[in-house]
Formats: sequence, structure tokens, C-alpha cells
Amino acid sequence: MKRSLSGIQPSGTLHIGNYFGAIKQFLEQQKVYNGFYFVANLHSLTSNPHNLEENTYDVVLDYLALGLDPVKTNIFLQSDVPEHVELYWYLSNITPIGLLERAHSYKDKTARGIAANHGLFSYPVLMAADILLYDADFVPVGKDQKQHLEMARDIAIKFNQQYGETFKIPEPLINEALQAVLGTDGQKMSKSYGNTIDIFAQGKNLKKQINNIVTDSKELEEPKDPNSCNIFKLYELFATSKQITALEAKYLAGNFGYGHAKKELMDVIEYYFKDAYIKRAELVQNMDYVKKVLQEGALKARDVAAPKMVEVRKKIGIVTTL
Ligand code: ADP
Ligand code: TRP
Repeated sequence: MKRSLSGIQPSGTLHIGNYFGAIKQFLEQQKVYNGFYFVANLHSLTSNPHNLEENTYDVVLDYLALGLDPVKTNIFLQSDVPEHVELYWYLSNITPIGLLERAHSYKDKTARGIAANHGLFSYPVLMAADILLYDADFVPVGKDQKQHLEMARDIAIKFNQQYGETFKIPEPLINEALQAVLGTDGQKMSKSYGNTIDIFAQGKNLKKQINNIVTDSKELEEPKDPNSCNIFKLYELFATSKQITALEAKYLAGNFGYGHAKKELMDVIEYYFKDAYIKRAELVQNMDYVKKVLQEGALKARDVAAPKMVEVRKKIGIVTTL
């Protein structure tokens, strides 16, 4: 069975951009591929995260509540499989500095004033290790991760040239039709930009986040353009085509304010995630089960990672005597 692998950083609460860009693909692919879906808690150190421990469990709860099935997939923490970091070091030694200097994500972050440290700079090498360690065939991610995937492929090719065929060259699985989900301020939605609508925000919290969506200042009576409105774009992600046509008509007719549109957006979001809300509340009461899922996931992951590292060390000439 082909393998699909991906990770999400526990650097904050997961939002609907993470859902449509990544998790929805994980859910679809668990039916057809052997899935490895982990929490990239080592990666999140590059963004100086708060509440790392709590956020780590939160991502796992979100995965399970949204429908990742621990029987069909391996759900684990990156930190439970030390082979990731070992491979990262070997790959670091064949990765040209120039390759990393071209990374958009690194350049964007430093341009936003995030102090550059070596972890942030070498982030794509750890990501390459995550993927190559499992000989993953497919990597479902959002468009913003495309370049990181290309780097993982370049690093794999380089290693194979230098040491002989070792790693599978992974294919990105990107929903090209999906533009990045925009945040409440109209920029890409991201945990680090404070512009999110969170998957598990409900009621008051959800309302507050939706109210932050920036609109133009058209009066209530005026007709409005659905296609330039972010409330409408978000609505399209959750609603049926019939609901979308109906909302479009209301925008064009006038006498329909952005406040009304926000209320309709809130309703479709709460309807869409209603089962997940219930499941998450149950899981929170059963953390022993959640930890067991992670332990079993890590053991299954190590069953693949450990023999792969034996092969890698042998190819490089790294001696271990234990
Ligand atoms: P964030 O930018 O919020 O920290 P991550 O970098 O942890 O998100 O991304 C986790 C996954 O979610 C990745 O596959 C990424 O491509 C996807 N993703 C993140 N934000 C968005 C978005 N706004 N639209 C679509 N996909 C996204
Ligand atoms: N860089 C990814 C992100 O920010 C997270 C990630 C870490 C990842 N390792 C990975 C994604 C391996 C896919 C495969 O979203």
C-alpha cells in the first residue's frame, strides 16, 4: 500500500485554513493510503511557541475529533521518533546553503521581523527528514508548503546520487483548486498572524472571530459584490451549492448587511463541524485513550523508521556498536 505522510505544527490553535489546506486531505486519503500523520512539535520550536505541551495534545485531539482513524493511520508525535533528528543531521551535511536561502517561508518570516536562528533556517531539512525516513509516496499539504516539498525532493536526489539509491522521491498532494484560505484581515490565514477562525471555536468565540472579518463600508441598502467579499469566500467552503446561490442573490439584491452575512457564515460553520465538536468533548474526557493512540502510533512509526536508519547509517559509514 502506498504511503501518505504529513505533519502540522502545534504552534497554536488549528484553524479552518489548516482544515481545508491539509486535514481534509488527510481524511480523504486515509481510505486509500497507509497514512502517517504526526504532530510536528520539533518544528514548532522555530516559532518560539507558547504552551507547547498543551498545543501538542490539542492537535492530536483535533485530528481524532475530525475523523482521523488510529486503526487505519499512524498518528504520532515527531518527538517520539528520534530517528527524525538523526536523519536531519545526515541530510544537513548534503544540503547546500543556497537551497535554504531561497526558501520563501524563511524569507517571509525574517521579513516580518522574526529573529533568524539556525533552527528556522534549517527547517526544510528537518521536514525532508520527516518525509524521507518513511519513504512516503505522497505528502498532502497546502500550497504554501510546495517549495518545502521540492526541497525534500532535491535533498533525496542528492543523497541518492552521493550514496546510492536510498530514498523514495516524494510527490506533493496539493489541492491546486484551493487558494489559500484568507484570514479575517484578508491576508493568508495563519496561526502566527492572529487572523484565524479556529476549527473548534464555537458560540461566542466563533462569533468574535467572524466579527473580525474586514469588509468594505457599503451601507446596508446597497447591493454588494460577493466575489470580492471574504465572508462570502469563506461561506463557499462550508455551504452547499444551493446555499451559495441563495446567499449570492442576497448580496446582489441589497438590504442585506455584512452583519447578516456573518451570521449565515457562523451557522454553516457550526453545522459543518457539529459532529467533531461532540467527539472532541468526549475525547478530552478520555486522555488515557489519546495517549495510548500516540504510543501505538509511535511504535508503528518506529517500526518503519528504525530499519530505514540502519540502511542510511550503513550507506554513509556511520558505525554503531550497540
Ligand atoms: P500556520 O501558517 O497557521 O502556522 P502551518 O504552517 O502549521 O499553519 O500549516 C499546516 C498545514 O495547513 C499546511 O499543510 C499548510 O499548507 C496548511 N495551511 C495553513 N494555512 C493555510 C491557509 N490559510 N490556507 C490553506 N492551507 C493552509
Ligand atoms: N512545514 C509543515 C507546515 O508548516 C509542517 C511539516 C513538518 C510537514 N514536517 C512535515 C508537512 C512533513 C508535511 C510533511 O505546515
